Amino acid sequence: MTSALDTALPTPAAARPASGTPVLKPLQIGPLTVSTPVVLAPMAGVTNRAFRTLCREAGQSAGFDPGLYVAEMVTSRALVERNVEALRIVTFGEDETPRSAQVYGVDPATVGAAVQIIAGEDRADHIDLNFGCPVPKVTRKGGGAALPWKRQLFTDIVKAAVDAAAPYGVPVTIKMRKGIDDDHLTYLEAGRVAESLGVAAVALHARTAAQHYSGQAEWEAIARLKEAVRTVPVLGNGDIWSAEDALRMVEQTGADGVVVGRGCQGRPWLFADLAAAFNGSDLRVRPGLREVAETIYRHGRLMVEYFDGDEGKGMRDLRKHMAWYLKGYAVGGEKRHELALIDTLAELRERLDALDLTAPYPGDDAEGPRGRAGSPKTPHLPYGWLDSRDLSEEFEAKLREAELSVSGG
Ligand SMILES: Cc1cc2nc3c(=O)[nH]c(=O)nc-3n(C[C@H](O)[C@H](O)[C@H](O)COP(=O)(O)O)c2cc1C
Repeated sequence: MTSALDTALPTPAAARPASGTPVLKPLQIGPLTVSTPVVLAPMAGVTNRAFRTLCREAGQSAGFDPGLYVAEMVTSRALVERNVEALRIVTFGEDETPRSAQVYGVDPATVGAAVQIIAGEDRADHIDLNFGCPVPKVTRKGGGAALPWKRQLFTDIVKAAVDAAAPYGVPVTIKMRKGIDDDHLTYLEAGRVAESLGVAAVALHARTAAQHYSGQAEWEAIARLKEAVRTVPVLGNGDIWSAEDALRMVEQTGADGVVVGRGCQGRPWLFADLAAAFNGSDLRVRPGLREVAETIYRHGRLMVEYFDGDEGKGMRDLRKHMAWYLKGYAVGGEKRHELALIDTLAELRERLDALDLTAPYPGDDAEGPRGRAGSPKTPHLPYGWLDSRDLSEEFEAKLREAELSVSGG
């Protein structure tokens, strides 16, 4: 039997007419034209096929091109080893286009081999490289946000990826932070180097690794990068919680598009607002609890499908989304707790049905920051990492071992 939940949710946005003039011109990422310059940020543990489906459908419901939706990062080594979970990360919905993957790695040859797999086996249409991850298990190995500090290594990785993808016409982009800390900023140099090596766009999360997710993203840095990188799009990222924030970012920085992460956790309908806003429409989705509950259930169904029918796995993965979905809604502590402990779809249905589904959209309480925050942290780096911009021979030898074989944040 087909339930209404098997199909795209009829969001309030779908009923409203599209109008207005686009705020920016389409985003051109190599051969890909993305009419609405909005990108779902890759988020490990979040932007899998299930969640991307909800975000994309919301974007489409506004009646415009929905934008670009990047999968969770996949580590190059895991992909080269053809690890089952790594291969699962690089799977896309049947109608998902463009298919966008993100690769993480610290060894040029392994990154090149991973890109060869993705592009050569036609597994994605776009590949982003992760130079922004601040988590200790990544930076400790010289990866993510720590990597652009080593100029030659950064150059070699970007070049390996661009060269491996070029024969297949797959564009490569980079996503980075400002640098390791305020005394070790790398983004302007890295942006220019990547541009000269043939990347199709550069994205900046306007924080340093030391800032982690604390404080405010410094959008001013996005404006500086836009001045430095002249021939490919510059995308701005950090602290976009609403469509209005996104418009403000492009106005203040001159960015060619926006990348949105935590703002859409538990509210995939933000992509309807974003698509509308960039197409000059004031349409905004403000769901009541019934619509939120339907989205959660559909998320659950999609999650189970993503994990090949494994309900336990799907429900465990869904649990972390509950608090995000319910932020600001009138749902008591006990009911929230129960929803965060579901094991089966039947339990999920039962516990959602037990909510007061007539509760309306709660206004400001549902808005604003969500997801990771925290305080600044001294980045964990390999011993002596900051002493030189060049890689020591000893460390170079360690790089291949340093490739992580599992995906991180
Ligand atoms: C749970 C989580 C997982 C993330 N995983 C990735 C990742 O796999 N690759 C990446 O480049 N950035 C990752 N990020 C960073 C986001 O892509 C984004 O740059 C960051 O959250 C700032 O944007 P925001 O303020 O819109 O959230 C992650 C962030 C979060 C919160």
